[in-house]
Amino acid sequence: MNILMVCLGNICRSPLAEGILQHRVNQAGLNWRVDSAGTNGYHTGEAPHQLSQKVAKARGLDISGQCSRRFIAADFEKYDKIYAMARDVVDEIKWIAKGKFDPSKVELLMNEIYPGENRDVPDPWYGPEPGYHDVYDMIDSACEAIIEKYK
Ligand code: 4NP
Repeated sequence: MNILMVCLGNICRSPLAEGILQHRVNQAGLNWRVDSAGTNGYHTGEAPHQLSQKVAKARGLDISGQCSRRFIAADFEKYDKIYAMARDVVDEIKWIAKGKFDPSKVELLMNEIYPGENRDVPDPWYGPEPGYHDVYDMIDSACEAIIEKYK
């Protein structure tokens, strides 16, 4: 399984999702590839946001080595499953992928624990640290469900 986690900037939410799922994949002894990307490309080449790094570190995860990149249409050829953090991210994925968009590969991350409810992982970018902890917990629960479902 190749899984891609996608948000807007690839500096707050999807780096956490990549780090958390990769950690759970390793713990489960699975041979999955996990990556992340952002739809807007504004932070290409940057490490995850300091607060995402800090909150991850507090939970024992080092995500400092990640590097932001923009989502590209060809990602539909490389990945089996593409998880979007929010509905606006799905819209952007559609716009970027155009004819390569494959709805069977795209899912809102939170639908793994609240099927069909189309809940968003809120963007913590504008807010203080507690928002990053909330986001961490939401993503962690969804990643636990993904492992249980596909392992
Ligand atoms: P993320 O948060 O999508 O969770 O990485 C954002 C970070 C930066 C921006 C938007 C969202 N930005 O527009 O710069």
